[in-house]
Amino acid sequence: MEKYDVVVIGGGPAGYVAAIRAAQMGFNTLCVDRFKGKDGKYSLGGTCLNVGCIPSKALLDSSKHFDHMNHSYDVHGISFDNPKMDVATMIARKDKIVKQLTGGIAQLFKANKVKYIGGSGKLLKDRQVEINNDEGSQVVQGEHIILASGSVPISIPNVEIDNEYILDNAGALDINAVPEKLGVIGGGVIGLELGSVWNRLGSKVKVFEAMDTFLAACDQGIAKMAARTFKKQGLDIHLSTFVKSATIKDGKVEVVSETNGEKTTEIFDKLLVAVGRKAETDGLLADDCGIKLTERGQIDVNDDCQTSVPNVWAIGDAVRGPMLAHKGSEEGSAVAERIAGQHGHVDFNTVPFVIYTEPELAWVGKTEEQLKEAGIDYKVGSFPMAANGRALAMNEPTGMVKILADAETDELLGAHIFSANAADLLSECVVTMEFKGCAEDLSRIIHAHPTLSEAVFEAAMNVDKRAIHKAN
Ligand code: FAD
Ligand code: NAI
Repeated sequence: MEKYDVVVIGGGPAGYVAAIRAAQMGFNTLCVDRFKGKDGKYSLGGTCLNVGCIPSKALLDSSKHFDHMNHSYDVHGISFDNPKMDVATMIARKDKIVKQLTGGIAQLFKANKVKYIGGSGKLLKDRQVEINNDEGSQVVQGEHIILASGSVPISIPNVEIDNEYILDNAGALDINAVPEKLGVIGGGVIGLELGSVWNRLGSKVKVFEAMDTFLAACDQGIAKMAARTFKKQGLDIHLSTFVKSATIKDGKVEVVSETNGEKTTEIFDKLLVAVGRKAETDGLLADDCGIKLTERGQIDVNDDCQTSVPNVWAIGDAVRGPMLAHKGSEEGSAVAERIAGQHGHVDFNTVPFVIYTEPELAWVGKTEEQLKEAGIDYKVGSFPMAANGRALAMNEPTGMVKILADAETDELLGAHIFSANAADLLSECVVTMEFKGCAEDLSRIIHAHPTLSEAVFEAAMNVDKRAIHKAN
């Protein structure tokens, strides 16, 4: 039986980072991953690289260019005769980026001497792993095992995914022609990002959201501004609305929904189901392997990502915490470092969140609602993008930056940005929070002019009512 210091099951952003970090520190490391790409070949990178973060951003970018041609270029004096979108070219560009990046992970594995086997891994007892693929079955022994099996979409009753008419995230990334009418169940991150893609390309998009609050996890001041903006862009978002059934009839999808007791029946060309994801443990755990699951079906881990079995660790979407690539990767590095006797650390208070709509929504730390609920006294500083010179020069005046700081100590407690490039603007707030910095620290750093980052600078100054380019 082959023996390894570390066996990682799952080669997504959690697993592949753990494997590379373990190998960097001299461990003989194996990574097993079963994901197969569109060509039927094993493909590293997990959900994120194959059917998640990267392909969705590729389509968001293509559709943004098309949208700008249709709606924004005229203000610059640029005109076109009837711009056209060739969907097949857009999808092929996305597939090429996916191939390049997933192939890049395989190269990184080679460079770091991580052994990679395409196939399904099952944890047996005593840290043995059974690997099954087209070539057969084998069992390997690991000194340490890292479970990084990721997540899969949640399904809802009476709505069966076929990925031709009723789609999950993978299907929605591969639509071959712009649907005239697209229904989206779930007004969360995937619903808004992929709904935006097809809305920009010309689909009439209706979003069915069960909650009565739009983006309940976001700061509500920012979420309300975002809701108004998305509505103007054409996203038809219906809150407190539950889909009761979806039926494929004559090449269309009939959707029955209910809002406050009132039933509606509508016909869509395609329906995207994006109602959240759940930990993937299918085929991962032998009955006697000793791993405990939580009530929600996640692999049960302590703060250090240790499972109920000694030397077996679990990370990423398969365990508690936000389902984000960068959270999984941080856990992957931290666990590899703990195995090496170091002090790997993940700070859950400073995980950045981003929704890649246009403008982007990005935030870190606490919202105003959370601070109120916790009874923490806080100060608010804000700055509108419409008063930022660079934003106006870019024709991106929508949005604002909001900074929340402790009323007494001025420590930065949260930052909430709705603006062009918000994801990148957020980084300095994350750094400030990580260093336990305060709003004044942010406002005493020189920011280049003219930049969008000056809006963060001014919002931080506004905390102490000394913003220069707005009335305080
Ligand atoms: P995964 O990426 O799911 O990887 C797990 C891997 O393990 C998969 O390849 C799976 O096939 C494999 N596996 C499972 N079981 C076994 C087994 N028994 N044997 C072998 N292999 C197995 N996050 C962000 O941070 N930013 C974004 O912009 C973003 N965009 C997203 C867009 C979409 C449409 C979706 C669906 C998700 C997005 N996410 C984003 C979330 C992100 O993709 C996940 O948080 C991330 O991929 C989780 O990483 P992971 O390694 O834990 O799991
Ligand atoms: P989500 O949790 O973001 O949103 C799901 C939405 O569906 C919620 O608003 C929920 O209230 C609603 N919902 C649930 N059941 C419903 C029902 N029966 N009818 C109508 N609405 C219903 O989940 P989503 O969008 O599926 O994304 C899954 C995860 O993937 C996210 O939680 C996120 O962690 C990750 N992701 C991250 C991205 C990013 O970082 N930019 C992009 C896309 C996904």
